[in-house]
Amino acid sequence: MADLIHTVADLRARLFPIRHERKIIGLVPTMGALHRGHGRLIEQAVSGSGFVIVSIFVNPTQFNQADDYQAYPRDLAADLAFCEQRGVNLAFVPSAAEMYPNEGLTSVNVSRLTDHLCGPHRPGHFEGVATVVAKLLNIVQPDRTYFGEKDCQQLAIIRRMVEDLNMPGEIIGVPTVREPDGLALSSRNQRLSAEQRQAATVLYRALRKSEDLVRAGETCPGEVMKQGLAVIESEPLARAEYFEVVDPEQLQPLDEIAGQVLIAGAIWLGTTRLIDNLRAAPADSA
Ligand code: PAF
Repeated sequence: MADLIHTVADLRARLFPIRHERKIIGLVPTMGALHRGHGRLIEQAVSGSGFVIVSIFVNPTQFNQADDYQAYPRDLAADLAFCEQRGVNLAFVPSAAEMYPNEGLTSVNVSRLTDHLCGPHRPGHFEGVATVVAKLLNIVQPDRTYFGEKDCQQLAIIRRMVEDLNMPGEIIGVPTVREPDGLALSSRNQRLSAEQRQAATVLYRALRKSEDLVRAGETCPGEVMKQGLAVIESEPLARAEYFEVVDPEQLQPLDEIAGQVLIAGAIWLGTTRLIDNLRAAPADSA
């Protein structure tokens, strides 16, 4: 039976003997609504660590809109059963008051990496993410922490924060898990109607179209973006928020495609926002 812990003090006390035994501590930070994508993160954590913690906390500071925060799916009993079945040792489920006991005067802002992709569309979002992840890393002090590559900008920002602030522990990116039709798994998928669910594959189709163009030798990022956007626009239920080609480390726009690039997009289906990305490189650069 996985331990269920709600406070920072109890977590630290529980981890004291684990550290003493020199077990490798793996952390999978989540906001709950666990699905097979999280399952992949947990599997990797279980195979790479001696003691696995899943944190479940819907972090209010990373939501731009109060109704999005309220509507975020929550099912703690199902999440705990999910963890249990996968060999998680401990679920850390703090309240908002436990994580933010007073008005926080400190936050983490990773500049430049937030300038493009989701950054301009979600002001303050990545500051909320970086700050809560910094808090979780300080609270748990894991040896390894696992994040999905679907949230590619989040992962790049966290890697940079850990490097810049000399935070210990390794950050491990885990490849995106997809439905058979290509849709990336996301807790938000459960909010889609049957028609929206069908239409949602358009983002992956746009990414694949762009990937094919890059592989075939298209060097103009604008052309790749234009053709990807045209795929999204062909789906009446979808609205593109952005569709960009950037360099995979700095997340900055490119003048020309000469090596590996990151192609990333966000679309809206009704009130649900989905993101996805792929890396692509010209066939002759491999
Ligand atoms: O990716 C998520 O689920 C969240 O952004 C994270 C990393 C758990 C921080 O709240």
